[in-house]
Amino acid sequence: MADQIKNGRWVKYPLSLRILHWVRAVLILGLIWSGWTMTGLPEDTPMEKFSFFYHNHKQFGVLIWLLAVVHLMIRWRNRALLPQTPMGLAPWEKLLSHVVHRLIIFLTLLVPLLGYSMSSSFTQSDGVPFFFVGDLPELLPKNDAAFEIFDALHAYGAYALLFLIVLHVAGTVKHRLADKGGETDVLPRML
Ligand code: HEM
Repeated sequence: MADQIKNGRWVKYPLSLRILHWVRAVLILGLIWSGWTMTGLPEDTPMEKFSFFYHNHKQFGVLIWLLAVVHLMIRWRNRALLPQTPMGLAPWEKLLSHVVHRLIIFLTLLVPLLGYSMSSSFTQSDGVPFFFVGDLPELLPKNDAAFEIFDALHAYGAYALLFLIVLHVAGTVKHRLADKGGETDVLPRML
């Protein structure tokens, strides 16, 4: 089914892209939840709990950036075969879905870089760990004024990403309900 071809295109996304799509969806939502939770922890929270949240948020944040790059590379290599935008969408729906998809890709690359830049520039930061690799190199010199800016941009970017994901899911659900099994019901292409 995955490599079934219709009009010169795959009917479904290839397995690699489907797995990456859902893994990234779970990780991004987890990162937004963890970021929101850890910045709201009370001052008297035990240090181990802070470290647990911050370390995992940072390393999974870097992982999401790497997965986004891999995802883009697979898409690029297979661009001529990927399922097409459904012809039955109204022009405004096509435009909206293109813009939302591109912004989601852009923000999944930008938000981790802003987080990494924030962490590097912060004078009190305890580094950016990455699983078995250990601490990654700092991206920028220490500068608390720069930290404040990256901190704000990272938060705005992350919440903008959440808003776009909500729009993306709403579009999918709308077409599922209004055109189940039809050409604009694109959910099965990603399952
Ligand atoms: C797609 C990836 C990421 C998402 C969706 C994300 C999301 C978030 C969110 C929602 C917050 C809370 C913002 C607030 O309410 O103030 C946050 C905070 C934070 N993030 Fe990320 N993040 C990502 C990647 C990263 C990376 C790669 C790093 C560092 C290497 C990082 C470091 C931090 C730090 C240190 C904070 C706490 C800032 C503070 O204490 O004020 N994040 N993140």
